[in-house]
Parts: sequence; C-alpha cells; structure tokens
Amino acid sequence: MENNRRQFLTLVGAGSLAAITGTPPSEAAPLPLKRKKGAPPAFFTPIEPSKADNLVLPQGYQAQIIAHWGDPLGSKDPEGNPEHFGFNNDFTAYFPIDALTGGKSCTEGLLWVNHEYPNPLFVSDYPHPPKDLESPELKTWIALKKTKEQIILEKKSVGGSVLHIKLVDGKWLLVANSKFTRRFTALYPQIELSGPSKTLVPHGVGTLANCSGGRTPWMTVMTCEENYPEYNTLETCRWSDVPGMEIDELQYGWVVEIDPFGDLPPKKHSALGRFKHENTTWAVGSTKKFVVYMGDDEADQCLYKFVSKNPLIDLKDRAACSKLLEEGTLYAADMGKGRWIPLVYDAPTAAKIHSSKIYLAMQKADPKFQITSQGELLIHARVAAKILGATPLDRCEDCEVHPKDGSLYVALTNNTKHGNFYGHIVRLVEQDDNPEATSFEYEVFLAGGPQSGLACPDNLAFDADGNLWCVCDISSSKIGSGVYKSFGNNGLYVIPTSGDSAGDAFQFASGPNDAELTGPWFSEDGKTLFLSVQHPGEESPDKQNLTSNWPGKPGDIPKPAVVAITGFPKE
Ligand code: FEO
Ligand code: CA
Ligand code: CA
Repeated sequence: MENNRRQFLTLVGAGSLAAITGTPPSEAAPLPLKRKKGAPPAFFTPIEPSKADNLVLPQGYQAQIIAHWGDPLGSKDPEGNPEHFGFNNDFTAYFPIDALTGGKSCTEGLLWVNHEYPNPLFVSDYPHPPKDLESPELKTWIALKKTKEQIILEKKSVGGSVLHIKLVDGKWLLVANSKFTRRFTALYPQIELSGPSKTLVPHGVGTLANCSGGRTPWMTVMTCEENYPEYNTLETCRWSDVPGMEIDELQYGWVVEIDPFGDLPPKKHSALGRFKHENTTWAVGSTKKFVVYMGDDEADQCLYKFVSKNPLIDLKDRAACSKLLEEGTLYAADMGKGRWIPLVYDAPTAAKIHSSKIYLAMQKADPKFQITSQGELLIHARVAAKILGATPLDRCEDCEVHPKDGSLYVALTNNTKHGNFYGHIVRLVEQDDNPEATSFEYEVFLAGGPQSGLACPDNLAFDADGNLWCVCDISSSKIGSGVYKSFGNNGLYVIPTSGDSAGDAFQFASGPNDAELTGPWFSEDGKTLFLSVQHPGEESPDKQNLTSNWPGKPGDIPKPAVVAITGFPKE
C-alpha cells in the first residue's frame, strides 16, 4: 500500500515537472564544481594536486632537508649514548640565537621540532598486526611480545629535538658540538608538573605524543601532548608488554613548556588542562593578562582558552613570565551562545558536575573517578567542559591569531560521524577585540571540499602579510580515494584573508606518499619556511612493500624529515 502510494506520487511529480518546464532537467555539472577564485598571491604560481612520491613545490622554490629520522645530533643522552633525531617530526618553532637580547637573527637559531609517535615497523622493527583481524596470523602477532629494547627505541623516538642551526652558503646546517642541541624523549628528562594538579600526579618522566605547539613571547616552546592514550595496550604501541615499561597516562596530555636556551626548567602546566592538546597560540588582553588558545583534537571535543591571573609585565623576566602559566582560569567555548565557560571548581559548579548524567556514568565505569577539587577538574577538563555546556566540535587542530586584526582562526579537521568529511576553518572575534573577554562571535572562514580544493585542515601559520598557511591531514589510508579522490597527496595551501581572494585556497606544496605536511613556521624575515614531512610511507605493510621511499631512492626506507623551504622573493 505504502509502496503504491509513493510510486503514484513520483509519477505525478515527474509528470507535473515536465508539464511545467516542457524540458527534462539538464545533466548536473561534474564534480568538483570549483568556485571561481580570486587571483593567487603574487609570490608563487599554485601547483596542481599531485600523487608524486615527492615534496612538490612551486617553480622557483627549493626544499633542503635539515634533519631526518635517525640523524646523529652529536649530543649524548643521560647514559652517555649518542642522541639521534626522532621519528615523525611535527611542530617546528624557530628561535633566533640572539632572541634573549631582542635580536631577530635569520641566519642562526635554535629549531625546536616535535616528534609525535613511532611507527614500530621502522623504529623498532616490530611488525604491524595483520590487516585481516580474522586471519590466523593475528594469534601469532598477539603472542609476539615487544622486547624491552624495542620499547626503549620507541620511547627514544618521540618527544622533541632542539637543533642549533646556522645558514651557511644558503644551507641550514647543524652547528657542531653545540650545548643547545639535545633531545627530550619519553624516557628523559624528569618534568615537573606545575599548578593546581601538581600534588595529584606522580612526578613525570619525559614527554610523548608531541603534536603541535606554540612559541611564547619570552622565547620558550609550548609543546602539546596529544594522543597520549596510544601507548600501553595491545591495540596501540603495547608498551605494557614489558612490566615497568608502561606509562602512567596521568603524566601526559599536558602543555609542556621547554626553554630551548636551557635557562628555565621544563614544566607541564596543569592550569592549562589535560586533554588531547593539539597546539597553543597566545594573545595579551586589555589588562595585560596572558591568554592561551588551545584545541582538543578528538571528534566531539572542545575549544579552550586560558587567561592568566596576573599580567604580563616584563618579557626579560622569563621565570616570572613562565609563572603566568601556573595560575589562571581555563575556559571552554560554547559556540551556540558565543560565551567562554569558566572551568572553575566552586560550589555551584560542583553541584552541577556531581548531579550530571555524564559524571554519574563516569563514576559507574570507574569507581575511582572523581572531580572534587580544581586539580581534579583540570585533569578531567574535557568531562567538566561537556557537563558545563561547552560545544563538541569537529576535531580542533591548530588555532592561530591573525597578526593584523587579532581574530582567532581555528582549523577543524573533520568529523565523519557528523558527515563532515572535509573539515572547515572558523574565525572567532572576541567581544571588543579583547582576548580576556568572556563572549565572542564567529563565522566559517573556509569550508573544505572539492569546491575549495582543500580537505581536512590541520596546522595553521600566518605570514607577515596575513596570509593563512594551512597544511592538510587526510588520513593516510584514505588519500586519493573515496571522497578524497580529487585532492591528491596531503598538501600545503596559502589562503589570503583579505582582498578579492580572501578565503580562497591556493596549493603551495604536495607531500610524498602517505605523508602529512606539518608544523609550518617562518623565520623572522619570512625568507625561510620550516616544514615537517611526517609519516611518509606510513601505509607500508612491511619493509618489502614500501609505499614511499622519500627522501631516498627506490627501495630505501622512508624517513620523516624537517626541511627548510627557500625561494621567497627578496624585497
Ligand atoms: Fe597530531 Fe591533531 O594532529
Ligand atoms: Ca596535527
Ligand atoms: Ca592531524
């Protein structure tokens, strides 16, 4: 009966349309229906999407490898063993060598580089599990425990590197025997927790899952611990295969402040909350409070900002500046109401939290789970944020503050559960342009998709002219297929934020197979772009079937590397 009725309505509808128009509808224009774009920035001719196993750049630009995975750094670990450049380089930040005396050297500096996660196949020679989870090989793989030596190799491959580099005859070279060049790993050094959660978390060992980050104006790095739950279990890195090698997850998921110059001790700042931190960017408010914007990169997690209790007074007093990150208010964004929700443990907040369904469900799942103090609230920041009304978002990656108008750009990579496969970039304007404000407005600056030529925006950086540089993170297993077919390999795009081309994406670079370009960072003069090439060949099932050989020759094991891109026009 229902079928007949639907068929009848369809026939009536089709007949009516033909009767009205007299012609059948024309064929739809094929995808992608590209929007008409404005003119690209004058300094480069955009490239086309590429599937080449190479770092493809516009004509006139060159990339030089500064360091790749495994390069000896000339430094020693606490046991006297040689240190090496880590795996899967991500965030980069350049510190002019004379920065502490106000200098802006563009020919010598310290380059901080994050190392996000290991690929066991390459780092520790440990095989991937079989793709077919029904196959008999799965049992064999489960029984093949990781050795302590393999786990140590993996722990040493993550964290970060400080590289003392110098521009010599147009090439960035490591300065030999520099006291600055050194490693931070998941094994060392000890890193103290600061702020309200300090007494609740055992003394921390090292850092891991270092995704993106930020550079403070007092010249320290804020390196962000993102996917910290991906280390202990069988489904992840299985570090708990060897008793004593597992990590205590409470020690990770923080923003870690490190002084590349080595004057200040490294610290994990609990006042900035614990979640899957992507990056940080900062601004100074109307009463000089220091404000840090941060995304939580997981589907349906939130956008945060921290506002220091005390004002920023003197950048030369670096210890006092660092202390600003130890005391203040953490807020989460309610996008619907355009308000920043303070995550402060007081009587009304406690009542709201303790009576919520989310809290009761968390306690049922884990009887030890509780939020009874500010320190515990910060450890479980994402639980508190949700209960208090923050908006679940589509994977917050980088946030960056526009250098000219102070508005905040936030990349949201995607959320396939919501049907948002392509992601978008939002632009948020604080009330009265004041980063300390508790309300804001926002707009969608760019929608990813075939029409814009960009999908899954991730790390962002601004150049001095206010162009937004955006790298993309289409999952390596999905590159070039399905809804991502038209994009080629992951790339780097330049997006003007003003003029006729505002919001139009122009492709500047394309990465090698399976890779993600990450961590774009300009030297102070804008003439060198530091960039990470992360996880080339990640989809290789084994070493006999490599999907990339970058940056080597055919047959070579692929190696993540950090490069310096030059060729920007001289003024
Ligand atoms: Fe490690 Fe959110 O990318
Ligand atoms: Ca990222
Ligand atoms: Ca990413």
